[in-house]
Amino acid sequence: MIKIAKIVNDKFHFNDDSYFFIEYEQKRFAIPDKCPHRGGPLSLGKSCQIKGTIECPWHDNQFKTSALIKKSVNAIRVQDSLAISSAA
Ligand code: FES
Repeated sequence: MIKIAKIVNDKFHFNDDSYFFIEYEQKRFAIPDKCPHRGGPLSLGKSCQIKGTIECPWHDNQFKTSALIKKSVNAIRVQDSLAISSAA
């Protein structure tokens, strides 16, 4: 499935979910802005490059970035829009 989305404040919506961009091992990923615990906004959390984690702002749980990128989507930026595809 390929869809075009608008980027707003470095976030975008795809299949009813919000996504944001992170850098991990020198690559850029678009991951869901939804904490695995209770759906908190991970984009407002703290990223730790040394531990390779993102800390959720709601309950301070830390999640491995390597696990979070497994839910990423492929997003190619074209000016102020994105072409997005996922395996689903
Ligand atoms: S909602 Fe993220 S740690 Fe609870």
